[in-house]
Amino acid sequence: MKFLITAGPTREPIDPVRYISNRSSGKMGYAIAQAALDAGHEVILISGPVALPAPERAQMIRVTTADEMYDAVHANLAGIDIAVLCAAVADFKPAAFAPRKIKKREGVPVIELVPTRDILASLGALETKNFLLAGFAAETDDLEKNAREKLEKKQCDVVIANDVSAPGLGFESNENELTFFLPDQSSRVLPRATKRDLAAGLVKMLCALK
Ligand code: CTP
Repeated sequence: MKFLITAGPTREPIDPVRYISNRSSGKMGYAIAQAALDAGHEVILISGPVALPAPERAQMIRVTTADEMYDAVHANLAGIDIAVLCAAVADFKPAAFAPRKIKKREGVPVIELVPTRDILASLGALETKNFLLAGFAAETDDLEKNAREKLEKKQCDVVIANDVSAPGLGFESNENELTFFLPDQSSRVLPRATKRDLAAGLVKMLCALK
């Protein structure tokens, strides 16, 4: 199978030295990429800025902003069997980029934000798609309700949810627990494990769903 995976945060520049971003180490997305490669699959990994080495044998595409990630995803859909959108894409970006550093002496700036494009929803809305579309939901409460809302709103085939409020799970942590929510109202759980072990289970689960 051929996987397209997004990972890491995006950065939305305010001026040459400042940006808006999300908390994301990229570990989960990179672990999924590695697990898919280890299982003999092909991988295109589209990654925001992270401090992780590229998995060997992955086709790496490095991006910075949400717009760049959107364009890279849409330019690389040919022949994809499974798309896993794991990136913590910034939901907002500054309406304008200040080409020169904003100086403190000018006072506290008011920065107008505009929404970024939703990459996952844009894939869900495609008229013809031959790939399985998996989205992620990082939630602090009402896991099932929020995940199911995402599944429907973004027209995914599966939403993989994790509870980021649980101590020692999610975000920069090495461990995670995942619940797969499916459109037929069923769900499957991959219990707490290292991101590496979970990633192997996740790849198997997605291949079974495809
Ligand atoms: N996502 C995306 N493009 C965006 C924002 C999000 O592809 N511009 C994807 C993420 O990679 C993830 C899923 O959408 O797979 C869930 O993202 P999230 O930001 O949690 O969804 P929202 O609908 O923005 O919900 P919330 O109100 O919880 O922020």
